[in-house]
Amino acid sequence: MAELVVALDYPDAESALGMAEKLSGSVPWVKVGLELFVAEGPELVRQLKGMGFKVFVDLKFMDIPNTVRGAVRSAVKSGADMVNIHMLGGRRMAQAALAGRDEATEAGAQKPLLLGVTVLTSMESDDLPFDFHGDIGDLVLDLASKGKQYGLDGVVCSAMEAEAIKNACGEEYQCLTPGIRPVGSEVGDQRRVMTPARAVAAGSDFLVVGRPITGSSDPQATADAIVREIRDSL
Ligand code: C5P
Repeated sequence: MAELVVALDYPDAESALGMAEKLSGSVPWVKVGLELFVAEGPELVRQLKGMGFKVFVDLKFMDIPNTVRGAVRSAVKSGADMVNIHMLGGRRMAQAALAGRDEATEAGAQKPLLLGVTVLTSMESDDLPFDFHGDIGDLVLDLASKGKQYGLDGVVCSAMEAEAIKNACGEEYQCLTPGIRPVGSEVGDQRRVMTPARAVAAGSDFLVVGRPITGSSDPQATADAIVREIRDSL
């Protein structure tokens, strides 16, 4: 069954842990992104794990293969249940990331999912920093298929692309989809968005929701409603 991942996009541990407390028991996964991780580091991942959450460490690594190998190794050692890299880093970088995960698990860490970021859900064709006249969905599908060849567990993509990715790469290839917006919520800077029920129907395995929950006057009730919507849409 698809699972809800709440993006804890906060500047410090106090705010993030405050929100995590409100969501404890309702939400299986939280996501620690760049802002929070740069401020608080792996100790916060350990604290969230201690509260019973599965933690997606969303740092979207992209660098030379050796550097990404070390970064993934460190992220896995922090106890992350999911980590990710940019697909645009290419084959050798992806293979180095897989090697970094293996090194950490051989040293005793649990094995997390390793996903590739295709094209950010905030981007449309016009936002790409190079001339691209095709369909952005084709670009995403191509990057997703490359990730499968390289041995990744799945991709971060828009729910709008999940169905085609599942058809091309197989059911077991995981699709984690940000850009989820319940009916009536603000789209904000996201562009390729979908409701929770439609994302599940499209094949999303993990639905990332940030501001619609963290900006709600009752985050727990909003999260519970999304979890119900996921369950009912199956
Ligand atoms: O607040 P909102 O629901 O838009 O949060 C979405 C989260 O997912 C943010 O933390 C953002 O960094 C992340 N994300 C994304 N698109 C991607 C990868 C990650 O929006 N392709």
